[in-house]
Amino acid sequence: MAKHERWASRIGLVLAMAGNAVGLGNFLRFPAQAAQNGGGAFMIPYLVSLLVMGIPLMWIEWTMGRYGGSLGHHSTPGIFQSMGKSRAWKYLGVLGLLTCLGIASYYLYIESWCLSYAIYSLLGGFGADEPASFFGRITGQSDNQLFAFSIPGLVMFAICIGINIFILSRGVSGGIEVVAKVAMPLLLLFGVVLAVRGLMSDPISDEAVKESPWVGLNYIWSVPDFTQIANPAVWLAAAGQIFFTLSIGMGSIHCYASYLRKKDDVALTGATTAWTNQMCEVVIGSALLLPIAVSYLGLQGVKDSVAGGSGFGLAFFTLPTLFNNWGPQFAPLAGFLWFGLLFLAAITSSLAMGQPVMAFLEDEFKLSRVKASWALMGMLLFLAVPVALIHEQGVFSDFDFWVGTFALVVFALMEVILFAWAFGMDKGWEELTRGAELKVPRAFFYIMKYVTPTFIIVILLAAIFKPSVGWDGFFGSIGSGQGVPAWEWDADSVIGKILHKDLVTPEDASPEVVTYYENLRTVRTYDRIGLLAIFAFFSILVAIAWRRKGKGGTPS
Ligand code: PHE
Repeated sequence: MAKHERWASRIGLVLAMAGNAVGLGNFLRFPAQAAQNGGGAFMIPYLVSLLVMGIPLMWIEWTMGRYGGSLGHHSTPGIFQSMGKSRAWKYLGVLGLLTCLGIASYYLYIESWCLSYAIYSLLGGFGADEPASFFGRITGQSDNQLFAFSIPGLVMFAICIGINIFILSRGVSGGIEVVAKVAMPLLLLFGVVLAVRGLMSDPISDEAVKESPWVGLNYIWSVPDFTQIANPAVWLAAAGQIFFTLSIGMGSIHCYASYLRKKDDVALTGATTAWTNQMCEVVIGSALLLPIAVSYLGLQGVKDSVAGGSGFGLAFFTLPTLFNNWGPQFAPLAGFLWFGLLFLAAITSSLAMGQPVMAFLEDEFKLSRVKASWALMGMLLFLAVPVALIHEQGVFSDFDFWVGTFALVVFALMEVILFAWAFGMDKGWEELTRGAELKVPRAFFYIMKYVTPTFIIVILLAAIFKPSVGWDGFFGSIGSGQGVPAWEWDADSVIGKILHKDLVTPEDASPEVVTYYENLRTVRTYDRIGLLAIFAFFSILVAIAWRRKGKGGTPS
């Protein structure tokens, strides 16, 4: 039974937690975000977010997880309810299931691309313009086309989901831990080989090299651009990256930590997870995509290609072509190492998104592991099918915004309030430091109580109410006495998203393009209804489960 599941070893736990956090966020999202937000300028908000939000939330989630786990709860509805008196907490905890499931639905899709690319590379590598057409072949995507699927792509997606479900059905120590122990060392090895080869390219001795790869590395680690520190957009991007990459605000870390024993340390192991993830992000993550791309395209070329995009182009179209510069023997291997690394990073994270849902069904409905894994597969398909059949601009990017970005901030705010205020910071501190093998600096007591919640509230407000003229423009025009600019919401703000301001039909569009945009807006309305329906569905399950327990779930 789920109740008695535990991690088999400390090293297994550490690797599983590292596998949870280290993912596509480290190798795809981080370089793209850093490049889009001014390289070095990004790093100060990023490091501040890590200290006042990332590390405290990591500790809070570990502590909450171990606490809930000792009472037999391994998913956030039960964990939240075991810490807060109000009956509403278990419903708020549902958000921790929705984010995991929602993110998994598109994350697994990218994971399946990585698997396809890795296999294809090994079979012979990519020719000059093949990577882009290969992408089209597995996603079926073309411009202004709403439906976009390909049979081989769907098959790979199904295989990927199947692999995850199979591993999850083997349990925490028999499945997740076993995979993490193999995947994490392998991933590091792949990363190091690629980084070393990538950084060896030299513009003087090698004709194809346009700029030293170190220029790409320096771009992130150069002298920070202090003027950008006042730019709220950079802060928002940096904080969002910290959430995503550390897997915080999602209900996933709680779940893994709930398989600890009551006296196991959370302080040192929690900090280790955070630092391992940061190592993989700022050391290995910065040494791959950007430096390799910069050496052959030049810094400006790279900046141009990430501007406004997701960084997918660089990773899936450009890089495989660039590997051809490394010789006919090494190119296929390099492609395999790169996409293999992405796949390993992704699978150890997607397992971490599936386990909370499994645990919920096992704890609260006493389903067996195998039955729970079938149920998870059903729920995943409900969301994954539209993701796979519709153009990336539709359901995919909409889920990425609502459950992959916005929900994390909301969830993090709720949990910090629960931990530091409802449960109480004194009790919380006692929990965190019980069995601790690391002396947590007392400053974090105050950071968790005051700084973290304030920081999150500011981020949340800035994300909801972002004026289209930007905050600089907004305050600037107030300061200059010109009056408040017309109050228009930015397309990327939460309000802008609700109003589909990011999907305005371009002027002079052809009739097909007009229909395409109309359909995209409709699709996005429905996918949001779908997410709300899942929230309602889990809430009903929670209500049923707690009614069965017959005591309203309130701890005595
Ligand atoms: N942290 C993972 C990454 O960087 C993503 C993730 C999200 C993992 C949700 C678990 C749960 O890619």
